[in-house]
Amino acid sequence: MWEKVAETVSFINEKTNFQPEYGVILGSGLGDFADDINIEYSILYSDIPNFPVSTVQGHKGALLFGTIGNKKIMAMQGRFHYYEGYDMKQVTFPIRVMKQLGIEKLIVSNASGGVNSSFKVGDIMIINDHVNMMPEHPLRGYNDERFGPRFVNMSNPYSKIMITRVKEIAKNLQIEVQEGIYLALQGPTFETLAEYKMVKNIGADCVGMSTVPEVIVAKHMNMECLGLSIITDMGDEKNIVEVNHEEVLEAAKKAEPHVRKLIKNFILQF
Ligand code: HPA
Repeated sequence: MWEKVAETVSFINEKTNFQPEYGVILGSGLGDFADDINIEYSILYSDIPNFPVSTVQGHKGALLFGTIGNKKIMAMQGRFHYYEGYDMKQVTFPIRVMKQLGIEKLIVSNASGGVNSSFKVGDIMIINDHVNMMPEHPLRGYNDERFGPRFVNMSNPYSKIMITRVKEIAKNLQIEVQEGIYLALQGPTFETLAEYKMVKNIGADCVGMSTVPEVIVAKHMNMECLGLSIITDMGDEKNIVEVNHEEVLEAAKKAEPHVRKLIKNFILQF
């Protein structure tokens, strides 16, 4: 794996000669964040050695290198989901690449179903912790100490400093934000009523199909993570409506301007 990552990194370095400081993963409906970046290089996943290819609708599939103000970033336009059939090493491969490119700060975004009854569709939730209920662990198997330790401390998966800062920035921009726990299931089905209830009873505030593997791998390599989730549907008993992918994308699109503004200002001001 180390060599594979190194091969990908040297390919990227040859193409770009660019030292990004931030890695950003653009989740469902957030692909247009690309418009906020002064893009210097764009590389299709399909052209990158060892990279999987994104298949899901609403996800583009390119690595973008560019600046926001004077900050250099690499953005993933489209991520890899376990439900697409990739194994967890493939899902998290880009995070390994980010770290070897010199990135220490990761910003992840996603769409999720809310189970906290004080939430509503379109809310932005700052992820302050997660529950991993994915069926495969990205760190299972041989541990290469060059990446990180065998046993990873997960007491601070989402940087408290980043959370404090993003809350201040949201307040200044008058963007309302929620805060809570994201629970990851593999999908691709949305949850049954009983499952949403379970998610709530476990103590989570929302549920989705991504992010947790990437954050685990980022923490393995001691990266600092900020997670933002758009609540695209509600799964709590009082507010439940039947959800489909189109509605998820539509709700994510509506919240997108705020999330974009928040991420952009965070990168500029953190
Ligand atoms: N469940 C799981 N994943 C999701 C949901 C949901 O309700 N909404 C958006 N992604």
